[in-house]
Amino acid sequence: MSAGAAFPVVDTDHAVEIAPEVFWTGYYMEDEALHCNPYLIRNGTESILIDPGSVPDFPVVGRKLFSVIKPESVTTIILNHQDPDLCASVPIFESLRENFDYDVIAHRKTIYLLKHYGIKGKFHRLDDGETAYKTPGGRELKFITTPFAHFAGAVMTYDVKSKVLFTGDILGGVGTDWELYHTDIALANMKAFMQGFMPCNKALRYALLKIESSGAELFAPQHGQIIHRDQFPSIKEALWDLKCGLDLIEDDAMKKAMVHAV
Ligand SMILES: [Fe+2]
Ligand SMILES: [Fe+2]
Repeated sequence: MSAGAAFPVVDTDHAVEIAPEVFWTGYYMEDEALHCNPYLIRNGTESILIDPGSVPDFPVVGRKLFSVIKPESVTTIILNHQDPDLCASVPIFESLRENFDYDVIAHRKTIYLLKHYGIKGKFHRLDDGETAYKTPGGRELKFITTPFAHFAGAVMTYDVKSKVLFTGDILGGVGTDWELYHTDIALANMKAFMQGFMPCNKALRYALLKIESSGAELFAPQHGQIIHRDQFPSIKEALWDLKCGLDLIEDDAMKKAMVHAV
């Protein structure tokens, strides 16, 4: 760990406060390689959920979440993209409330797909670029699109007050050797996840530059480990030239595939 990144010892069987009033509410299963990191911002009497999670994780995530908030306090649900590991549980959350008076925030391309989960909250559409947003309780957020990292409409969420950047799948990791906070061991897991889930190096590089210029103190991905700002330069260096997705398909293999396709 770099100097300055003094992470506490934590009990991950409960909600973990990673910054003042910002909580990790995820579920770590020792035999699973890809586990998820849902997050909560508690802002006075309102609650903001970020990538709340999957159906099978819901009993554990819900226990952690509802130990610190009530379902009716949720004003805002942010979905950085449409994958089921981060948003399939939204209809379960909705079934615990008496009304659907809250915003579900996502990129417009993501919303096309989110509708198929049967989500009933009010969709708030984001366009490309950076969008400033205030929740009903006055929390200032910034949404930053990271095209094709890994979905066309992928979005990162920056919480201005806590200086936490929720990066979605970017900087996530895959591996059974998991801890909540980033260590050097986590870098191999991160590289494996980026290579497998990012479409190409160009998309990853763009996202890395957006992360670097965000001003965040803490980076909170939807998989893998939470990262301190001091740890980012060496991570960026390790990922900058990393071949991902299509980059890993040899040119010859691509040419052969094109010949057979016509
Ligand atoms: Fe994803
Ligand atoms: Fe994911």
